[in-house]
Amino acid sequence: MNKILPVIVLLLWGTVGMAQPTWAEDISCIVYSHCSSCHNSEGIGPFNLMNYQDAFNNRYAMQAAIADKSMPPWPPNQDYREFANANILSDEEITIFNEWVNAGAPEGDPTMAPEPPVITSEAGITDPDVTFTTEVYTVPGINDDLYKCFVITPDWDEDKFISEIEVYPNNRNIVHHVLMYKNLTDEPVIDDANDPELGFECGGSIEGGNNILVGEWVPGSRPWILPEGTGIKIQKGANLVMQVHYPDGSDGQQDFLTVNMKFATGTDTREVFQDQTLDHIQHLQNPPFLILPLETKTLHQKLVLEEDRTFLGVAPHAHLICTKMWSYAILPSGEQINMVEIPNWDFDWQGMYYYPEPIILPAGTELHGYARYVNNPNENPNVNNPPSWVTLGEDTEDEMMLFFYTYMFYEPGDENLVMPNGGHLEHYQGCNQITPTHHLEEVLSVSIYPNPVDGSTFRVDIGDHFDGDYMLELTDLSGRLIYSAQCTGDCMVDVPASIDNGVYLARLVQDGQSLGQAEKLVLMR
Ligand code: HEC
Repeated sequence: MNKILPVIVLLLWGTVGMAQPTWAEDISCIVYSHCSSCHNSEGIGPFNLMNYQDAFNNRYAMQAAIADKSMPPWPPNQDYREFANANILSDEEITIFNEWVNAGAPEGDPTMAPEPPVITSEAGITDPDVTFTTEVYTVPGINDDLYKCFVITPDWDEDKFISEIEVYPNNRNIVHHVLMYKNLTDEPVIDDANDPELGFECGGSIEGGNNILVGEWVPGSRPWILPEGTGIKIQKGANLVMQVHYPDGSDGQQDFLTVNMKFATGTDTREVFQDQTLDHIQHLQNPPFLILPLETKTLHQKLVLEEDRTFLGVAPHAHLICTKMWSYAILPSGEQINMVEIPNWDFDWQGMYYYPEPIILPAGTELHGYARYVNNPNENPNVNNPPSWVTLGEDTEDEMMLFFYTYMFYEPGDENLVMPNGGHLEHYQGCNQITPTHHLEEVLSVSIYPNPVDGSTFRVDIGDHFDGDYMLELTDLSGRLIYSAQCTGDCMVDVPASIDNGVYLARLVQDGQSLGQAEKLVLMR
């Protein structure tokens, strides 16, 4: 009888015979570099990740959040377009983290671990030319998200070019984001005067055409530093408007904002523009801006550049029912240049992103923007039930579609501009380098057959993937050990008749450590 038997293939990570990862030598560095900036007693993360015990206690939740890439939060798709200082984990770091949890999350030799980071002030510009702070504000008891705008009017007697700028809240426990705009009209001052409290309530956005984004803060943000010899202009008399999102539950807490700036030196500073390059009125290709209840709609914007421009960064903006935003350019040659993609748009995690190298787009280039809106509570948890008509507007329940691009008019030599915000996120200093012995080298495949098992034995073929004794373990679907067999090399396993037919999980274990993920094995005798 010559029947072809189905086989299951166990994928093992190629770590056999190598040292297992430990907190001290491997994991502490990953956590301190990528997680602790928010997961500390003053940060917005819901629990601390500041030492071994913290990480051990939260290891399964961390493993799940790392595996589905929800943590650390980094909205742009780096494969579509690379941005500087991306807080993302490499595939290797993700694998090491998995191995560590699977190996029982060992601490290792604590003397090898770096000192935990010291969380101090948020200031990234430590020698500012000018600092502004707002008055201390106490969030009232309202049990709802609060969007509050505060106004600062620098009393400058001339226009200034700014080479570095940052804004940050002083109570990072409660603030989800800050957006800072410059406004050359007196609208914000009038709004402020009309509101009896400090500042004024300002819905989901304040992006009327008079507001130009000049800074932003979400947990983990860095100052905006412009290339040498360039600056963003803040005109004499301009108002700075800072919109702060205090989430539900911030009631009674206090906060104030700090703005730090450095002025460009030299006399012939080149102006950097940041504007609503793609906006929802002028550039919309498929109006009306209206999303009906239960409707899913993708809106499209287009702008044809009239001059050569040098692009430095981008900040996409929409509200709650948007689920995805992306933008690309089509050069006159027909070539497509990807600019940004936010695959899972999240109002709470909007940011300004900088390119590691400038992107130069010649006159005649088409710049396209897209945003997808899902106005269906079954598909989008941000939609009210029942859904209502959603149209363009400034309240959080309204929608928007903006791509704020940061750019200059092109000058020869821009190809070689050095981007001060460029580069990779630096590892927490004091970290050991990740030990190279834990490198993911290859994925090994081991087969178990037949599957389903229709007789009293099955076979495990490990090829020459690893040496030594190992255990073949069968557990039920809730992880209870049902049976284990000792093996060396390729192995024939007897299945006792006392085990019921059904679905089990099979995995290989060596020295108490699981060699990869468990796979389903079916007994059908
Ligand atoms: C930029 C700030 C920030 C960074 C960096 C960050 N977190 Fe979080 N984390 C949060 C916030 C805020 C929440 C609460 C849920 C939310 O708002 O998305 C959260 C929630 C979580 C949760 C709860 C489950 C979940 O997915 O909501 C886990 C687990 C977690 N973080 C693990 C990590 C790990 C592991 C890292 C590093 C690899 C990390 N976080 C980095 C801010 C951060």
